[in-house]
Amino acid sequence: MTAGVPVIAVVLASTRPGRKGEGVARWVLDQASTRTDATFELVDLADVALPALDEPVPPATGRYSQAHTRAWADTVDRFDGYVFVTPEYNHGYPGSLKNALDRVYAEWNTKAAGFVSYGVDGGTRAVEQLRQVMATLKIADVGPQVALSMRDDFVGFAEFAPREHHSAVMTTVLDDVIGWARALRTLR
Ligand SMILES: Cc1cc2nc3c(=O)[nH]c(=O)nc-3n(C[C@H](O)[C@H](O)[C@H](O)COP(=O)(O)O)c2cc1C
Repeated sequence: MTAGVPVIAVVLASTRPGRKGEGVARWVLDQASTRTDATFELVDLADVALPALDEPVPPATGRYSQAHTRAWADTVDRFDGYVFVTPEYNHGYPGSLKNALDRVYAEWNTKAAGFVSYGVDGGTRAVEQLRQVMATLKIADVGPQVALSMRDDFVGFAEFAPREHHSAVMTTVLDDVIGWARALRTLR
């Protein structure tokens, strides 16, 4: 995408039946819905349904042999930036997201990203790991982060009910992702 307002993907990383991430991703889309400086689309990794990496050469070569890889490359390529909605699994981020990130390369380059994480401690450890991967993929990740607590933002660890202050942080994340997404177009 090279013209018009930036197009941002809200990437839902959890693929589990009964996942809490779906409510979180819907909230992100709802928070973004009043903005006119970008458009937003849900990208649900459960729908993308990539198998474990099955490419014979590293994706950085750009030689994708599988139809599902090429389809995923087209999806990633359509966006100027991403908001990754990720849980924390064993102090890291889910394998579904790592598989989706590793699968293609050039399509991620010189894009912007922000994070909305959730977990007992806000999912912050998962995001710290993700930030290491972003640099290698040439994705510029913004500093502000929405960190949702399973204890305080989910009633009974189940029903998503985010505390008020997260909306302001979400706005900051979106401001930064959109600004950087727009600026990075000049490098592509
Ligand atoms: C495999 C697995 C590992 C988990 N490990 C952690 C963890 O390290 N830290 C944490 O805060 N929560 C952990 N949890 C709890 C998750 O934060 C919680 O189950 C959350 O709902 C997962 O997101 P999801 O429902 O969207 O998949 C773990 C959950 C699963 C399924």
